[in-house]
Amino acid sequence: MTIKDIFQSMDYGTAPESAGDALAWLVDQGDRFGHFIDGAFTEPGDGFESRNPATGEVLALLTQATPADVEAAVSAARRAQPKWARLGGAGRARFLYALARLLQKHARLFAVLETLDNGKPIRESRDIDVPLAARHFYYHAGMAQLMAAELPGREALGVCGQVIPWNFPLLMLAWKVAPAIAMGNTVVLKPAEYTSLTAMLFADICRQAGLPKGVVNIVTGDGHVGEMIVKADVDKVAFTGSTEVGRKIRAATAGSGKALTLELGGKSPYIVFEDADIDSAVEGLVDAIWFNQGQVCCAGSRLIVQEGIAERFHAKLRARMDKLRIGDPLDKSIDVGAIVDPSQLARIQALVDGNTEGEVYRTPCTLPNQGCYYAPTLITGLHPASHLMQEEIFGPVLCATTFRTPGEAVEIANNTRYGLAASVWSENINVALDIAPKLAAGVVWVNGTNMFDAAAGFGGVRESGFGREGGWEGLQAYTRPAGKPKPLKPVMPFKGDTVEPQAVDRTAKLYIGGKQVRPDGGYARAIHNRNGTLIGQAPIANRKDVRNAVEAAQGGRGWAAATAHLRAQILYYIAENLAARKDEFAVTLNRMTGTRSGDKEVDASVDRLFTYAAWADKFDGQVRSVPIRGAALAMREPCGVIGAFCPDDAPLLGLVSVMAPAIAMGNRVVLVASEPFPLAATDFYQVLDTSDLPGGVVNILTGSHADLAPALASHMNVESVWSFSSTDLSAVIEKAAAGNLKRTWVNDGAARDWFGAEGEGRPFLEAATEVKTVWIPYGA
Ligand code: NAI
Repeated sequence: MTIKDIFQSMDYGTAPESAGDALAWLVDQGDRFGHFIDGAFTEPGDGFESRNPATGEVLALLTQATPADVEAAVSAARRAQPKWARLGGAGRARFLYALARLLQKHARLFAVLETLDNGKPIRESRDIDVPLAARHFYYHAGMAQLMAAELPGREALGVCGQVIPWNFPLLMLAWKVAPAIAMGNTVVLKPAEYTSLTAMLFADICRQAGLPKGVVNIVTGDGHVGEMIVKADVDKVAFTGSTEVGRKIRAATAGSGKALTLELGGKSPYIVFEDADIDSAVEGLVDAIWFNQGQVCCAGSRLIVQEGIAERFHAKLRARMDKLRIGDPLDKSIDVGAIVDPSQLARIQALVDGNTEGEVYRTPCTLPNQGCYYAPTLITGLHPASHLMQEEIFGPVLCATTFRTPGEAVEIANNTRYGLAASVWSENINVALDIAPKLAAGVVWVNGTNMFDAAAGFGGVRESGFGREGGWEGLQAYTRPAGKPKPLKPVMPFKGDTVEPQAVDRTAKLYIGGKQVRPDGGYARAIHNRNGTLIGQAPIANRKDVRNAVEAAQGGRGWAAATAHLRAQILYYIAENLAARKDEFAVTLNRMTGTRSGDKEVDASVDRLFTYAAWADKFDGQVRSVPIRGAALAMREPCGVIGAFCPDDAPLLGLVSVMAPAIAMGNRVVLVASEPFPLAATDFYQVLDTSDLPGGVVNILTGSHADLAPALASHMNVESVWSFSSTDLSAVIEKAAAGNLKRTWVNDGAARDWFGAEGEGRPFLEAATEVKTVWIPYGA
């Protein structure tokens, strides 16, 4: 036998990590856990077992929280919050820093415990989960320190209810807890029922760090406990988990005024062009789909390979799969560990066994005869619409198809209800950077996969949820404007029965697709002035008009691709044309509202248009300092089609204040004008018509806000809904938005001074954009 033969036939030895310290820690805790409430562990109560999925052994007993437990945790958080916020960012930073240090100090214990509880390979918990969790606390210690200087006028939301999944138990805890407490919130967190142990160890280090009691509270239990937290007296709910549960939470919190972020499922495309570095792309797949047994929300689970190289690529991939090592997760030479729980294993088996399409290849291996294992699987030759190409499997199963042209690659990649992440592999920078912005995803990795860092926002679009975790954008979700909101009073139309002769025949129309159109139902509403005189007729839009307006807005998608410079020019032009008709608009405003502020309102509207023309090419992205050789771009992209209920009180300024930031950022809008005072909006079409704005970018409807809200908020082709109506539409909009999990921005009954600073600026621009993080590692 030659030395070469020996090297080629040599197998890896086992390199098991000892479970001794982690098991001893569990014994020290009595193998039973209560909840962590108000800085102390409660007595363990009735509950459930936490098992090691690699062996089936019981590791510890956990307590199923009762309503009283959840209530106690929320009360403790509520009591602690004002003092924690008053401590100031610098004071809080010290505690976050201490937590980061303690996570590092106990890194080995955390890693082993995580692997025992979850089944993930120790290499991953040791090298990825725990270091990233510590990094999150360091990064947010810095955010706490900088809060006063960098986020002026923002304050904590209050108490945050946080529900996390089982795939990255400690890391998801860090992603939730660190930004929340950095900004001065307190938390009640529920780990997933399969994997609560590292959360218990984290509770222990909170005590060691001397964290004030009540700042972090942890209750354990199943989905019922999650539901209790969602319904409890919390100011914000942050959830990571399945889209199905996310949708339920969206519906359950509708109209409650609770802030909400959802990080949900995905079916992320992994696109390989024929000019890719094939070996790297094959190796990347090991991290994309076999990392954490594929139980990763952003797993590259849909392989899309250019046709010319598909056969060669699949062959290399199969050869690489043959080398994957599956087995004891505590063994440091293992690539693929155990599936978290028998129920998850059964789910994966059922999904794959139910499939009759494509060609199935599995890593040839003998699976351990106990524990929850599933062999790495590749299914090639699937149709982009196949069930397995669409459904999140959440296991080590890669589904593959092919494409011919870059355009087709984008089409297949975006053929999903999800939009969490994507990978693009090409050695041609033009191809990679052309494709990245076209993908419907919150994160895109160029020539890489599954890169994460606290400085880079993570989160999805479409049914992958909304909100970002990490980066500056992640802090939005944990802060709000300081001060008490002013209550919003309903603005009622004037009533009357007298007729102003010259106005009677002026029946305004709707504005759809750049054209003035009659309302589908053919009805109009009489508009009276303060004295009860009829001054005009406004059309009453119905569901069909909403559908037509959304369709027109969809058709205007070229606007997103227009340069920011062009969008600015058009906004300036609209401003100029409005200014030219100032007197006429002022008269209409005065007549409608019975005030004398028409002049002032037109001036403010012109000014606002100038403001957003100015912002159009200045509200841009950033390059984030992530620990790779390369760049992570935080790009600002338009949301798509935004449906907005305009303020009732400032009929022209309100409409302009909502329209201008949205279109400045490249969105198309369907605006529902002030309900009591719609006539300024109907005159405004003529200004738009003369300002070179492409048809479909702005569509304006008039009618009852309450009647139109369900249609607009449930429309599947609307990406975001805003409401500044004086009718509180938050419940109806947020509930309807659960369908396609669109973003919502509702005023929750709070009034806004449209003439003042709160009528414009960054919050509008932020709501009008999604941050897409594009990771671009480089190196020759
Ligand atoms: P899940 O969404 O049911 O569980 C996630 C968390 O939500 C757990 O802490 C659970 O106790 C809690 N929960 C369950 N029902 C709830 C409710 N009605 N209200 C509030 N909290 C609730 O996910 P599950 O059942 O563990 O996994 C099912 C599938 O979901 C997976 O196969 C996978 O496809 C997907 N999933 C996706 C994750 C992601 O990160 N995107 C994470 C976990 C699961």
